[in-house]
This record gives sequence, C-alpha cells and structure tokens, in this order.
Amino acid sequence: MVTADNIMSPDDIVGLLRENNLDKYVSYFAEQMLLYRAAITKVRTTLETLDDEFHVKNDYNPIHHIETRLKTPRSIFGKLQNRGYPVTMQSIHDNLTDIAGIRVICNYIDDAYRIADLLIAHDGITLLEKKDYIAKPKPSGYRSLHLIVDVSVYMSEGSVSVPAEIQIRTIAMDYWATLEHRLKYKNEGKVPPDLYGKMKTYSESLADMEEKMQELQRETENYK
Ligand code: GTP
Ligand code: MG
Repeated sequence: MVTADNIMSPDDIVGLLRENNLDKYVSYFAEQMLLYRAAITKVRTTLETLDDEFHVKNDYNPIHHIETRLKTPRSIFGKLQNRGYPVTMQSIHDNLTDIAGIRVICNYIDDAYRIADLLIAHDGITLLEKKDYIAKPKPSGYRSLHLIVDVSVYMSEGSVSVPAEIQIRTIAMDYWATLEHRLKYKNEGKVPPDLYGKMKTYSESLADMEEKMQELQRETENYK
C-alpha cells in the first residue's frame, strides 16, 4: 500500500509516463485520494454524532449543515505549481493541508466554538493550526473559524495521519462568504471599485446582528 510518506518525484512520474505506465500512476494517486476521502468521512461522522447527541440530550442541533469537498487533481497540481512547490506526493502531503475540506455551518457563534473544541478533543483528530477569523476578521470582512487538523485514518496496514481543513462558521458568515466569493469570481477583473468597501461594511453589520441574535438565544436559554 502506498502511504502519504512515499515520495514520487517528477522524474518518477515522467518515468512512469514514458514507460506508458499511466495506469500505475493513476492508481497511485487514487490511493492517496482514498486517504483524504477517509479523513473527510471520519470528521463528518464525528460531527454528525456530536450533533445527534446534542439533539437527544438538549433537543437542539448546533449544526445547521455540513459541506465537504475533495480538491480536484487539477486544483492540487495547479496550487503546487503556482506556489513553486515540488510536484511530489510528499510535497502534496506537506504543503497542501486543504485537499480534504470540511465546512461546518452552525446556527450561532457559541455553537461554532463549542463544535471546534469538541472536535479537537477527539483522540483521533489532532489540531495543527487554528485561525480565528471570527475574533479577528480578515481585511476583506471574511469571518470563520479555521482548523487545520491531522486525522488518524485506519487502513489495513495501519493508521495513517492525513491533514484536513475544517471551516466552522455560522449561517450569517456562510451567507456573506458565499456571496462575496461569487461576486469576486463572477466579475473577475471588473469588480466595481466600491465592492470591497461595501462588502466589508456588510460583514460588520451581519456581525452586529449576529451578536444580537446570540444574546436573544442566551436569554431564551435562561428563561427556560
Ligand atoms: P488558501 O491559499 O486559499 O488556502 O489560503 P490560506 O492557506 O492562507 O488559508 P486561509 O485560512 O486564509 O483561507 C483558506 C480558505 O478560506 C479559502 O480557500 C476560502 O475558502 C476561505 N477564505 C479565506 N479568505 C476568504 C475571503 O476573503 N472571502 C471568502 N469568500 N473566502 C475566504
Ligand atoms: Mg488553505
């Protein structure tokens, strides 16, 4: 079994291609992708179980929904090349931590932090890096809690550690990020000059509103 520790240099790849061994190369890559898919499944199952437990015990679901995506081969190799990283399997493992991507959309800000804490308390999920763009939004106005984690994936030949990126955000944060991404992407190169300023202001308005909704939720909890 090929693990993420094995190195395939560009020469190896060219060699395989020259020998017309494209099948071998493709299956090598497919085995790597299997690990990332397994990491996504593990994180998703863990999150769904936590959400279910909350529902049973408190009659409340902190998670609104979960989205996952596996980075495409085109996007993986594009990112390696753009950033000047070597095109090897080791390099993919070391430099790209977002091949396995999980996005968790929560109802309230409190839920986002609670879910993050519970997830990293799992002994098969190790926190590598935490970026709190809720406490400190990006200059664009982007808000989210990002975790880079190592997920221990159990395979027939033993456990393999696989990196994954988890974005935890509220419905309001997701609403803003989705629209902002679409506006930037759709109008690439021809963005109205005041778009960025406006989007930042709208992000702040949403953050204000969310704080009020959170307060209301806490009051309701106390009232119960
Ligand atoms: P990447 O090279 O994009 O992976 O950036 P990074 O490694 O510096 O990580 P960062 O935490 O900044 O962002 C990773 C991901 O967060 C991106 O791929 C987007 O999905 C999301 N993101 C970050 N900044 C923005 C933003 O300004 N707007 C939107 N819509 N999404 C963002
Ligand atoms: Mg990233």
